[in-house]
This record gives sequence, C-alpha cells and structure tokens, in this order.
Amino acid sequence: MDITIKLTDRHGKLHELDAPTDMNMNLMEVCKAHDLPVKGTCGGMALCSTCHVYINSDHELPEMSEDEEDMLDQAFFVEDNSRLGCQIRITEEVDGLEVTLAPEDEDA
Ligand code: FES
Repeated sequence: MDITIKLTDRHGKLHELDAPTDMNMNLMEVCKAHDLPVKGTCGGMALCSTCHVYINSDHELPEMSEDEEDMLDQAFFVEDNSRLGCQIRITEEVDGLEVTLAPEDEDA
C-alpha cells in the first residue's frame, strides 16, 4: 500500500509525500524520490546526518541504533525530536508521519 508523509521543507512549505510500503524504502530515499533537498550523502548508513529531520507527530518509531545516536551527537541543530531520515523505514506504522527537514550544516 501507499502511505503519506507530511513533510515541511526548509522554507516552511508542506509537502504530502506518497510512499510505497513494499519497496523497502526509508524516509531519506522518499525525500530524494520527490526531489526534496535531502542529500543522503552516505547512502543511508547513518554516517552523514544530511537526512536529519524533526519528528512532529507522536508516531511510535523504532528505537535509535547506536550508530544513529552517535551521528546525531555530532550533528548541528539537534533537538529532542531529531532523527536520521534514512533510519526510518516506510511501513504502515508511519502513515501520516509529520516531519520537518532540519537546516543544512552549511547554513550554520
Ligand atoms: Fe547519511 Fe542518513 S543518509 S545519515
């Protein structure tokens, strides 16, 4: 099935992203597929933080891996609701997830 992700970009514009649950995608890949400015430099290995997002809805998400925690420790603009998009799998559980793109490190 397809789910919807409600994503606010860095200009405050809301995008409703359709994403299939049967393609083993993650949120970083969905953003790229929709031409949003998410670099995903490390290819989804939790090694670059260019897929940094803030989670605005109270969806239950999988626990962070140690790699994700380590990476977010080093990232800029980290908030309590920060996650790495590439570590969020597109499943039925995240239908309607509301996220905001974190600023890019270069903006610092
Ligand atoms: Fe590099 Fe997510 S794409 S940490």
